[in-house]
Amino acid sequence: MLKKISIFVVIFAALFVLGLVAQNVIGAGLSKIPIDLEQVPQEDRDKEILRLGIIAELDAINLYEQLAAYATNPHIKELLMDVAREEKTHVGELQALLSKLDEEHGKELEKGKKEVDELLGKEQ
Ligand SMILES: [Fe+2]
Repeated sequence: MLKKISIFVVIFAALFVLGLVAQNVIGAGLSKIPIDLEQVPQEDRDKEILRLGIIAELDAINLYEQLAAYATNPHIKELLMDVAREEKTHVGELQALLSKLDEEHGKELEKGKKEVDELLGKEQ
């Protein structure tokens, strides 16, 4: 009886994990450009591409960290967390380039950093 319940629990857990992966990979429509870039004016297209890249990298970070949380093999867990870390570097690269193409974006990022520093400075 206990063995049957254990098998049921393992099958349920496996289906749950597969469901989470499917929801993130298929349900969210990843690997597809969510807008028609042809409709974006040429002068804005590169900035739009960078913003879409940032969204994709942030989503990838979440996906890899969630997969790492489910992985039982420590090597897989470590590898997934390392990949998630690399995706954070990619966010930084895309943000840096976007800040050069969109001056306002760069200024507002700096403004946001200062506001957070002030907020944290007040708390400390
Ligand atoms: Fe990446």
